[in-house]
Amino acid sequence: MKASERPTFTYYGHSTVRCDLPDGQVMLIDPWVQGNPRCPQNLHEFDRIDAILITHAHGDHLGDAVQLAKKYKPKQVVATYELCCWLESQGVENCSGMNLGGTQEVLGTRVTQVIAHHTSSLELGGDKPIYGGVATGFVVCLKNGYGFYHAGDTALFSDMQLIAELYRPRLAFLPIGDFFTMDPRQAALACKFLEVREVVPIHWGTFPQLTGRPEHLHKELASLGVNCEVVTLEPGGVY
Ligand code: NI
Ligand code: MN
Repeated sequence: MKASERPTFTYYGHSTVRCDLPDGQVMLIDPWVQGNPRCPQNLHEFDRIDAILITHAHGDHLGDAVQLAKKYKPKQVVATYELCCWLESQGVENCSGMNLGGTQEVLGTRVTQVIAHHTSSLELGGDKPIYGGVATGFVVCLKNGYGFYHAGDTALFSDMQLIAELYRPRLAFLPIGDFFTMDPRQAALACKFLEVREVVPIHWGTFPQLTGRPEHLHKELASLGVNCEVVTLEPGGVY
């Protein structure tokens, strides 16, 4: 497959990924930009955002969704039904709340919301977090067959094999930081379950607890004998 037939991915640090689709439209996943200590200053302003996908409500994933949606007016804002209800209450338009197992068309791609083993809550400054639906991941499939998976925050689960069987993604964005998510050893097994050719490590290096590193993932893949390329992107990196 030619590079022009798949999205160009820009890594904003942590779990934030910009996908420039082959037709020029921009999909932003987990839009944590302003407060993201790993996001380079020159990426704080956008030329366009055509869709926003949010894996779950935690602040490091929901991020600047409200402000960015109001400023750039994406055609679709995709998250769980519950999180979309909250976004609408904040004045966000074009919300398209979905739920696990479902697929909807987004910018000409097919976006499937898949399970993640993690929690999800809104941290609104009160003394308790507020229920924010469940945590999810997304599989995005282009019409030409190219697919990728953004796992959000998750523990390892063997049903990742179903994602491989159903959608055949070529590339996965997987958390490797440990503490709140999978560590590199689990992520290596995830690559085996997913049968992906390429993995981009995310959710690492942002906080002191996130100790997993791309080189650890590389070692774990080698020791499992899994043939999967680790595409290490520093914040601002483009693939
Ligand atoms: Ni989280
Ligand atoms: Mn997180």
